[in-house]
Amino acid sequence: MSGFDAVYRRSIDEPERFWAEAATGIDWEVAPATVLRDGRWFPDARLNTCFNALDRHVEAGHGDRTALIYDSPVTGTVRAYTYAELLDEVARTAGLLRDLGVGTGDTVVIYMPMVPEAVIAMLACARLGAVHSVVFGGFAASELAVRIDHARPVVVLSASCGIEPSRVVAYKPLLDAALEEAAHRPGRCVILQRPQAPAALVEGRDLDWASAVRDAEPAGCVAVAATDPLYILYTSGTTGAPKGVVRDNGGHAVALHWSMSHVYGAAPGEVFWAASDVGWVVGHSYIVYGPLLAGCTTVLYEGKPVGTPDPGSFWRVVAMHGVRTLFTAPTAIRAIKKEDPSGNFARKWDLSMLRYLFLAGERLDPDTYHWASDLLGIPVIDHWWQTESGWPIAANCVGIEALPIKPGSPTRPVPGYDVRILDSSGQECPPGTEGAVAIRLPLPPGNLPTLFRDEARFTESYLSRFPGHYLTGDGGYLDDDGYLYVMGRIDDVINVAGHRLSTGQMEEVIAAHPDVAECAVIGVADELRGQLPVGFVVLKAGADRDPAEVERELTALVRERIGPVAAFRRAVVVGRLPKTRSGKILRGTMRDIADGRDYRAPSTIEDPAALTEIADAL
Ligand code: COA
Ligand code: AMP
Repeated sequence: MSGFDAVYRRSIDEPERFWAEAATGIDWEVAPATVLRDGRWFPDARLNTCFNALDRHVEAGHGDRTALIYDSPVTGTVRAYTYAELLDEVARTAGLLRDLGVGTGDTVVIYMPMVPEAVIAMLACARLGAVHSVVFGGFAASELAVRIDHARPVVVLSASCGIEPSRVVAYKPLLDAALEEAAHRPGRCVILQRPQAPAALVEGRDLDWASAVRDAEPAGCVAVAATDPLYILYTSGTTGAPKGVVRDNGGHAVALHWSMSHVYGAAPGEVFWAASDVGWVVGHSYIVYGPLLAGCTTVLYEGKPVGTPDPGSFWRVVAMHGVRTLFTAPTAIRAIKKEDPSGNFARKWDLSMLRYLFLAGERLDPDTYHWASDLLGIPVIDHWWQTESGWPIAANCVGIEALPIKPGSPTRPVPGYDVRILDSSGQECPPGTEGAVAIRLPLPPGNLPTLFRDEARFTESYLSRFPGHYLTGDGGYLDDDGYLYVMGRIDDVINVAGHRLSTGQMEEVIAAHPDVAECAVIGVADELRGQLPVGFVVLKAGADRDPAEVERELTALVRERIGPVAAFRRAVVVGRLPKTRSGKILRGTMRDIADGRDYRAPSTIEDPAALTEIADAL
């Protein structure tokens, strides 16, 4: 049997056989004899991820196939790299890193905009068995500093600037400020100079990327243990300190390679475009590693869905490069829909090559689903996953069998994921009943084995709540047909324009303001971005301040400390926060009010009028 049910069942009943078969899609230096031991996949195998993404395709005679298309409406550039050309660039960049003292197991921080050198940098690290940590460009200097101090990179790779439609973002001053703030000192910074804003280099510390790479000798691939880390990707948790999600080499390569054909139905040579950013997990998995492991052509798009220059830019890219699979966040589609509700821009382009639109990163609302599917006339597929998993947990696996779509659901758990809905006592909820979405261990290959330098936080965050299960942090339910419905986070994480942010972290920043006595930040439903953060603040006694001025100071503070990506634009001064008599802030009830759900003040509430004040402010 090859239908979805049969494949899924086999993955759960015989995980070792299932993933041993999938592992044959990868070229190993030492093939796995053991498939799973103590939750770690392929513990005795050795490989190099870069070899699998590039060299093996060139060796198989596909060196002339296009590996990467850089399409940058913000600079007016379109440039293609064949597999042979990309390999050459990566090998020389790896040579430079090696000359700068980067060895196997060393960390390298990459703080770059959406340029080919960002992809080259990631693969160059993988080539040496070094561990990259990419930091998203929309984060502030302090966030970069926190990551530099935690990852302790030997080298930082960066660029002089990124380009947002409304402004050039000078990265180098942000990097300089981060290095001022950080205690850790990397040996070198290698800076890609972009003509839009060339940067001053610090003598003795900074190197010019182009000339340094030009002079470097190419480096070969260094095989590492399958369980060795490939990268660290910091993501928002419930507190100010981000979590360093670790990805291993072997499980990751196997899972991503398998997902390209089985989840996305993509074949070698096809054009696959994930319209995301290399700073997020979608960028790691489906701009860089997944498509290249599978021998596809990947598109690196430096632009936005709207405004670069118009709401037809996604359709232009699809038509111009023959994109077969497009992956983006629902927010991007909502942004296009808002500016071009009748889809006139889409009709200007030949979209006949496009076979699937995959959406993830936040809940796909049925309106957006229907709009996109009516416009494009192709399957629009919601799928659900997270930084920790690295690849989809629930999806309509069109490469196995396309199942009927139910709007509002990312379809069924993907093979390898034994998804359970648990109530607060850890009992399984019957179909239709909402609970915590958990995954029975073992997690399939590709999922995080730990948090970088923080095994205790890994156990505490994910494994201790329900023994034998991984806690996803999302709430939801399964229906009678086994379809999953993800209803939203059950912790302090919010999703703003498909970007994952921590309200707890914003609260820490706001609480540091000298006039703030206490505060609560919640995510409020927003038509375009899905959610937006809103802060409620109580001022210290005697702080006689103009609320509008306080709001201005607090929004500036969050922008400065966390970054523009937080999109923190509303801070409301209130007389008190709704709390229980024991002093716990009623964030859940506040969220219910914000989302327009029915709410009832708990019997333990200290002062019911505080809730009315929140409702009035919203
Ligand atoms: N570097 C520097 N700044 C960045 C940035 C980056 N890489 N990405 C975003 N920012 C800035 C923006 O310029 C904006 O700054 P502003 O406050 O000065 O306007 C701020 O961060 C907020 O960004 P965003 O919420 O993305 O707003 P936007 O107006 O730039 O774009 C959308 C709105 C909907 C077009 C955009 O959010 C989008 O394309 N979303 C799709 C999400 C996505 O791809 N998610 C990845 C997961 S799949
Ligand atoms: P990130 O780690 O940035 O990928 O964010 C992961 C979180 O985004 C998940 O835990 C969910 O809360 C949310 N998310 C991602 N995809 C979906 C989806 N398809 N439907 C609902 N929520 C989603």
